[in-house]
Amino acid sequence: MKILLASSNQGKLAEFRQLLAGFDLVPWPSDAPSLPETGAFFQDNALQKAEGAKAWWLEHGTEAVDGVLADDSGLCVDALWGGPGVLSARFAPDLSSYRDKNHRLLALLPEDADRTARFVCVLAFAPMPGRLHGEPFTVSGTVEGTLAFDHRGQGGFGYDPIFIPDGYDQTFGELPSDTKHTLSHRARACAALRARLGGSS
Ligand code: IMP
Repeated sequence: MKILLASSNQGKLAEFRQLLAGFDLVPWPSDAPSLPETGAFFQDNALQKAEGAKAWWLEHGTEAVDGVLADDSGLCVDALWGGPGVLSARFAPDLSSYRDKNHRLLALLPEDADRTARFVCVLAFAPMPGRLHGEPFTVSGTVEGTLAFDHRGQGGFGYDPIFIPDGYDQTFGELPSDTKHTLSHRARACAALRARLGGSS
């Protein structure tokens, strides 16, 4: 099955290549427009991106694909009332590096704050007319954990160096990527997607 990945986030793309091995993944072209995400919930934004990418591809696509996949994800920190949540990609826009953004986020938490947090991933899949039947649908995955006291590790991307998944002492930035791919929010959502697509690749 050939799937257009409606994302230009290089960190996500690297993960999808491993998590969706067996599917023929077509990257979002570098000259394609960025996709609006104006919803209040991960699910709304994932569907909005998948539908937007499908419409654009129907007009400008260079090859036939069976469906379009969009990911909306983020880090939800309990002490920040679930933030940055759907705004994770837009947190601290004045800072360019995630090392700096991570330090800023950690500085928002008082020393004695509850440090529980979770990563959430919602995937929206939109079948391409004439190739696959059915309506667009979503699947999701979460991973529970706590925030570290400092930015730790070079692996992963985004908020990985400050997130310690439950059952581990290391952050996603320190753990091998294979470990992240067994328990992450995106891994769980991809497993649900495979099941929903009937395991076909
Ligand atoms: P969006 O889905 O494009 O709105 O952006 C999601 C943002 O959440 C990313 O830019 C990262 O900052 C963060 N994020 C999502 N998934 C992960 C992950 O697996 N590790 C670290 N950060 C993530």
